[in-house]
Amino acid sequence: MTKLIMTFPVTETSHTLASYRSRGGYATLERVVREMRPEDVTREVTAAGVQGRGGAAFPAGRKWSVIKLNDGQPHYLCANADEGEPGTFKDRWILENAPHLLLESMLIAAYALQVRHAFVYMRGEFDLPYRRLASAIDEATAAGLMGERILGSAFDCDVLIYRGAGSYVCGEASALLTSIEGKRGYPRNRPPRLTVRGLYQRPTVVNNVETLSNITGIVRDGAAAFRAVGTADSPGTRLVSVSGHVNRPGVHEIDLGYAFERLLDDCGGVLDGRALKAVIPGGISSKVLTGDEIMPLALDHESLAAAGSSLGSGGMIVIAEGTCMVRLLQVMLRFYHHESCGQCTPCREGMGWLHRIIDRIVAGEGRPEDIDRLYRISAANDGTTICGLGDAAGYATSGILNKFRPEFEYWIEHKRSRFDGNLVCRASS
Ligand SMILES: Cc1cc2nc3c(=O)[nH]c(=O)nc-3n(C[C@H](O)[C@H](O)[C@H](O)COP(=O)(O)O)c2cc1C
Repeated sequence: MTKLIMTFPVTETSHTLASYRSRGGYATLERVVREMRPEDVTREVTAAGVQGRGGAAFPAGRKWSVIKLNDGQPHYLCANADEGEPGTFKDRWILENAPHLLLESMLIAAYALQVRHAFVYMRGEFDLPYRRLASAIDEATAAGLMGERILGSAFDCDVLIYRGAGSYVCGEASALLTSIEGKRGYPRNRPPRLTVRGLYQRPTVVNNVETLSNITGIVRDGAAAFRAVGTADSPGTRLVSVSGHVNRPGVHEIDLGYAFERLLDDCGGVLDGRALKAVIPGGISSKVLTGDEIMPLALDHESLAAAGSSLGSGGMIVIAEGTCMVRLLQVMLRFYHHESCGQCTPCREGMGWLHRIIDRIVAGEGRPEDIDRLYRISAANDGTTICGLGDAAGYATSGILNKFRPEFEYWIEHKRSRFDGNLVCRASS
């Protein structure tokens, strides 16, 4: 089975069509449009069991199967390249180094779903990824791999880039579609599901960039080859962007089920040989695990879920001993407050309250009952909002409080961090 990073080692030219074709690029698309029926492609993707790499790990084949071919409606496909989850920078690696892999995979998916116009919704701050993908689209169009009568077949498809404007919520699938429609990027209530009524009220599939980038390999090598790597419940590989207190931060591709301890080793261990205090395994919306909890774990969906967390968006943040968790939570809550779109009351008001309370604690004006308040406001968001932002902020808050409560109590009582003099995680209020 193809590993993304091994197949696309970073060179000066790895993003170009010539380089991609020299590695067999677009041969799978050619076979698909010449020899396969759309439903055959979806069947292979379903059999592979590839789960979404954007956060929720929903099986891609199941999502695709909802689209009814020949229903007389236009269908849409959107690659989610918003990559807004703090700590996550692995889709960016694909866009910069293997944009043609994403495009070939999107064209195969578009063929399976009978899509004429596919979109890439890209994070507004991305510059090089945008230039690389835009130039890859130009190259593919000029080579007859995109546009009308692709590779001489009856299949027509264009891929268009839509650039966001820096909103975290616009990474949520329904907000993303609303934003493409030119409206304020508010998430939408479900049902109806986006696969029933999505972009312009038409059946739409939204998949993460990495999820889609797996499609070419799955169709080329078959579902069995994909399943030969990873675990029974978490097949394939995953890109993990490791940041924080490690000696060698960066994007790593692991077989699902890879031991955390080995990944930490691959990253050169904890910075300056310090002890491991905690890890946020999948972007800040996944629950924090202590060093002792994560050290023996295998990195797959089932192991992380059993430990009370998740692989989330693949953004792993390593936290060394000596880091102040109060300041860390302050940074996180400032982010959630800033990014709440304001549509749902519990999130709009709750994020403000969480942020103000943590600021108050850091300012030395915290009250003993503030810890319970943080818990209560976090719980008030649980399941009461249209999208997952409020839930995520609540889980992050209660997750950190559950495991590091004494640090909060210390700050409230002594009006300073237990770690003062060691400002590993500096935050201004
Ligand atoms: C507030 C919020 C932000 C999100 N941001 C992203 C994002 O930047 N990229 C992404 O792929 N998914 C993001 N998601 C998840 C998407 O809603 C959706 O589940 C995902 O794009 C589906 O693709 P997948 O099934 O391939 O993972 C976000 C969800 C929420 C609630």
